[in-house]
Amino acid sequence: MNRISEDVSKVRMYVGPAVMYTMNMIVLFVVGFTQMAQVDFKLTLYTLIPFPLLSISIFVLSRVIHKRSTIVQEYLSKLTTFNQEFFSGINVVKSYGIEASIIKDFDAISDASKEKNIHLHKANALFFPLMILLIGISNLLVIYIGGNQYINGEIKIGVVVEFMLYVNILTWPVAVVGWVTSMVQQAEASQARINEFLNQVPEIQNFNKEQTEIKGKVSFKDVTFKYEDTGITALKNINFTVKPGETIAILGKTGSGKTTIIELISRLYDTTKGTVLLDDIPIKKANLNDVRSQIGFVPQDPFLFSDTIGNNIKFGKEDAKEEEIIKAAKNSDVHKNIIEFTNGYKTILGERGVTLSGGQKQRVSIARAIIKNPKILIFDDCLSAVDTETEEKILSNLEKVSKNKTTFIISHRVSSAKNADKIIVLDAGKIAQQGTHNQLITEEGYYKDLYEQQLLEKEI
Ligand SMILES: Nc1ncnc2c1ncn2[C@@H]1O[C@H](COP(=O)(O)OP(=O)(O)OP(=O)(O)O)[C@@H](O)[C@H]1O
Ligand SMILES: [Mg+2]
Repeated sequence: MNRISEDVSKVRMYVGPAVMYTMNMIVLFVVGFTQMAQVDFKLTLYTLIPFPLLSISIFVLSRVIHKRSTIVQEYLSKLTTFNQEFFSGINVVKSYGIEASIIKDFDAISDASKEKNIHLHKANALFFPLMILLIGISNLLVIYIGGNQYINGEIKIGVVVEFMLYVNILTWPVAVVGWVTSMVQQAEASQARINEFLNQVPEIQNFNKEQTEIKGKVSFKDVTFKYEDTGITALKNINFTVKPGETIAILGKTGSGKTTIIELISRLYDTTKGTVLLDDIPIKKANLNDVRSQIGFVPQDPFLFSDTIGNNIKFGKEDAKEEEIIKAAKNSDVHKNIIEFTNGYKTILGERGVTLSGGQKQRVSIARAIIKNPKILIFDDCLSAVDTETEEKILSNLEKVSKNKTTFIISHRVSSAKNADKIIVLDAGKIAQQGTHNQLITEEGYYKDLYEQQLLEKEI
């Protein structure tokens, strides 16, 4: 955010004021200096003695001000982040009863920020007095030396007045030299930071600009995937194939790599070893935009924007009509909840509006994916926050919606998985079991244990 706002405005200062003041300074100085030198060269030299001093001191002062204002900015963002974080987590703060210690921390940051501000304003306060002092010295020199020259009969009294005017005209351009130099230095540093950002090459590249038609067959061939930043190998030699239109369920303990499989299908990452194939072509060779536009993805942790519910659903299909939105909401069993709000689909979500419950959020997120009508649907544990009854309702609706679509259902519940054409059980990044529900319940292992445990829960 800093690079986008602060650094860009520093560079803007360079191409705007810095260039303008430099031109202004050059013109005024050349004209003024020639005029003065023509009238009296000796007096001109004396008058201009304090000027380099003025430039240099303004330059030094500008740098000090810049350094201190950077620190002030840092404190400002510390304060903002602090407040933002604790206001959004106010419920956690209250329930743990730690208001007092947070107020203490806030006071500490505020005090430090105040100190830094005073420090900055001390430097700022020097700026104009320093300029006026040096201009004053120039004026005194004109009066003293010019006066002497007049007494000796070398010049007329009008020349002294004329020089005092010149001094005042030239002061600002000279002071600007120091200011502009410091501005150029800051702009240079900022531009370097901006370039660093602009020259970043995305890890995931679109190698194919031609249109790729996607039917929905997905296969993994010996796929191994390691998260570079943590060094965790999340998937090890994964092999499976899903035919177009099939439904596949992925189960496994937390951290076993389920979400990672999905991320590889949407090509949020490229594999470390092995290949992901879409319709028998390696996913890297398919047009990235076509791949993503044919995937409806409901993430594990749904994200809704501070906008109306309708627009949040339409996010998946910008030109969607009202009926389509309602149909998608009905299929994800959230329509009834939405029409209960006074503003219905126009209800604003997020900070300025209504907060949805976890299960409502998940269902709005499902509506967003199905309205897109993609070839591949992915539901990453997106029914975890709804009760089993609602889950069943949504699943039976989804069965209709996902006809002819390849569907991935990730879950911790056997009830979500049992109707799938194929079930994969992951364990620590490897496929531990695969087959249909009927096959897996007769086989010793995670699936059977889970099934029996959840059956028991239901009976109780
Ligand atoms: N962005 C990431 N960067 C680094 N490591 C990650 C990242 N995402 C996941 N991991 C690691 O990869 C492993 C597999 O994670 P993954 O999210 O695929 O598990 P999961 O099966 O979806 O678990 P859950 O059921 O809790 O959602 C975990 O050990 C996790 O710590
Ligand atoms: Mg996950």
